[in-house]
Amino acid sequence: MAFSMVASHSRGKSAADKIFGASAAANAAKAKFGKAAVTDATIGAILDDNEALVCLPTVEKVFRSLPMPDIIAYAPIAGLPGYLETVIEAAFLNNKPEAYMKAVATSGGSGAIHHAIWNYSEVGQTILTSDWHWDPYRVLADGLLRKLDTFEYFDDKLQFNVQSLEKKVGELLARQDSLLLIINTPAHNPVGYSLSDGDWDAVLDVLKKAAKNDKKITLFVDVAYLDYSGEKNACRAFMKKFGNLPSNILVIVGYSMSKGFTVYGMRTGAMIGLSSDQAIAEEFQNINQYTSRATWSNINRGAMTVLTTIYKDKELLTQLEGERDHYYKKIKERADIFAAEAKAVNLTTLPYIAGFFLSIASGNPEAVCTKLHDDNIFAVPLAKGVRVALCAIPAAKVKGMAGKIANALAAVEK
Ligand SMILES: Cc1ncc(COP(=O)(O)O)c(C=O)c1O
Repeated sequence: MAFSMVASHSRGKSAADKIFGASAAANAAKAKFGKAAVTDATIGAILDDNEALVCLPTVEKVFRSLPMPDIIAYAPIAGLPGYLETVIEAAFLNNKPEAYMKAVATSGGSGAIHHAIWNYSEVGQTILTSDWHWDPYRVLADGLLRKLDTFEYFDDKLQFNVQSLEKKVGELLARQDSLLLIINTPAHNPVGYSLSDGDWDAVLDVLKKAAKNDKKITLFVDVAYLDYSGEKNACRAFMKKFGNLPSNILVIVGYSMSKGFTVYGMRTGAMIGLSSDQAIAEEFQNINQYTSRATWSNINRGAMTVLTTIYKDKELLTQLEGERDHYYKKIKERADIFAAEAKAVNLTTLPYIAGFFLSIASGNPEAVCTKLHDDNIFAVPLAKGVRVALCAIPAAKVKGMAGKIANALAAVEK
């Protein structure tokens, strides 16, 4: 191996991000052929019909009205007290389970995942998530010297595959005493699936059974897309199920302001720990606050204050909810066009319910994406298929896409 200054645990690691790679190809095409000629389905942020980055107007108004000290001063390491209280309200609304709950501010949803991995799995252990997942889970696990294993998200009938989950949980707990399971719902990235009530009952049955022999289980629920997942209480109803679980099952809800407030770069989120045991909830707060000190110190004070200000003011909150609803409907309109056209050309997508992305399975996603470049369409090749960012393409450009993807699949797989 070439001479390296890097410590042995980090040597040779690199994060060649497929999303940024696909994005760069799209940008090159825009420079060559003009923006109007290119369909850029790689971007993970809401763009309007003119393909401009959206900032929800109420968020911008409140942020711009903050006094400078509220933007620039340090915040407490655990997060501003008002934020910690309000973020629990924002995450659960009317669906608070019977449990002790503690929140810690994090650097986006990513920060919550980082802390959960560091504090709720051992070095060298394996973390579990679904085969279709947000790519950075693997980098986060690997960077923290853990492994990532996956269960099959869907069975042959494209139903949530609880048997595969049960099998993997059993296998992993046969060789380790604790398990961190990450489930991204509702409006999963990259598929757009949301676990049903029945799926959730089945998942919790699996975990309760597995926890019977003193194993420790941490369920991390990544709700990054919660605010674009449907009616606000209906899409949170599953959260009630996290009450009264055995004390060796800890639930962590990973909350992110990135999408819900369109403040992606302001790096603000929270992790909310739920336990039937008060001491476990307090330990959760203490240890994660400690890990914040040990990594990034405190987070973005201004963004935390934006959330607290809006959620404490009924009028502002109603406005914000209306703005989110507008974009939820816009994304849904794009998804509906895609679905209707996909049906017409017999193109199967993974089960999409809501969210920024939909995916199409393929044995050769790289080749399909490259073929799509002939039509100036840019999507992201993932391990098991192609991801299309509905959040970023105007309806006019969604039209015709399904047919072109079907053709690209046929050309690659013939
Ligand atoms: C599934 C999922 N989880 C978590 C995140 C984390 O987002 P952030 O760290 O920006 O809050 C993202 C962002 O794209 C995501 O797609």
